[in-house]
Amino acid sequence: MAPLDTVCERNPPRYIGRMAVVRINAIEVPEGMGERIEQMFAKRLGTVDQEPGFLGFELLRPSGENERRYYVVTRWETDEAFDNWVNSENFQHGHRGAEGAGQQGPPVSSGAELLSFDVVLSSQPHG
Ligand code: HEM
Repeated sequence: MAPLDTVCERNPPRYIGRMAVVRINAIEVPEGMGERIEQMFAKRLGTVDQEPGFLGFELLRPSGENERRYYVVTRWETDEAFDNWVNSENFQHGHRGAEGAGQQGPPVSSGAELLSFDVVLSSQPHG
């Protein structure tokens, strides 16, 4: 779909119309494994940063009752940029231990679901 050609009248139109895609890996983490998976991510922090088209990443720990999964939120310039990364040696390397193979102890994940979104609008504080 074409980007919304919206102009914000309240503030200078500084951040309108830039499209991005968001890909979220929603990971089911077995009881008691939260700290472990957070450490695994911490060890790899920054590895994805140089990928072409990469715009950002957050690891979200669930803190409410309606969602128990961790969300690995990634932002990319295009679908292709995301697909290229998922098919890359870097991704394979980073996920070698993710489902239990080759790691000490029980698996840190019992399931994962990929969620996909397009950014329509975004805003941030300024002043
Ligand atoms: C079966 C599917 C997946 C599981 C179980 C999984 C789990 C994990 C785990 C445990 C790590 C920590 C790294 C390590 O192994 O030490 C990791 C890294 C990461 N995963 Fe996944 N993952 C999966 C697929 C995906 C997908 C589809 C995405 C895209 C949204 C994604 C995004 C990331 C990112 C950004 C990192 C940080 C590492 C880096 O910077 O390269 N993962 N994943």
